Amino acid sequence: MSLERTLTIIKPDAISAGHLGDIIKVFDSHRFKVVAARLVKLSKAEAEGFYAVHRGKPFFESLTHFMSSGPAMVMVLEGESAITRLREVMGATDPAKAASGTIRKFYAESVERNAIHGSDAPETAAFEISYFFPGIELQ
Ligand code: CMP
Repeated sequence: MSLERTLTIIKPDAISAGHLGDIIKVFDSHRFKVVAARLVKLSKAEAEGFYAVHRGKPFFESLTHFMSSGPAMVMVLEGESAITRLREVMGATDPAKAASGTIRKFYAESVERNAIHGSDAPETAAFEISYFFPGIELQ
């Protein structure tokens, strides 16, 4: 186990449905420390830059439109094995496949409007943290 930082986004669907506080409580209960947080309204270009790895996929246009449609909370979370642990707490991308007790099982609407994002690997976490919090320490 090692102390890691990961980037999470509480997405516009979860914010507009009023789930922000409940999702932060889940972070607390799993002992993630909030290192940084910012409420943002992404531009379409910012959403496209963040999800650049998905450019060309059939859902790219719709995803980046959705992600720039309303307020989202971007946060850096720290904890032991934070990257993989957060992915477990989030559940599968498609809420229909998410395990019971996970954030997406509780709060996601669909595979696109799926309540939360979390970095999937250390390299991705480094890129994503610096995308929203340039200058912050990565570890
Ligand atoms: P996220 O974890 O933020 O990473 C990429 C996002 O793309 C994902 O969550 C979903 O919001 C979205 N996504 C992934 N696969 C699909 C799909 N098949 N259809 C629509 N959106 C998708």
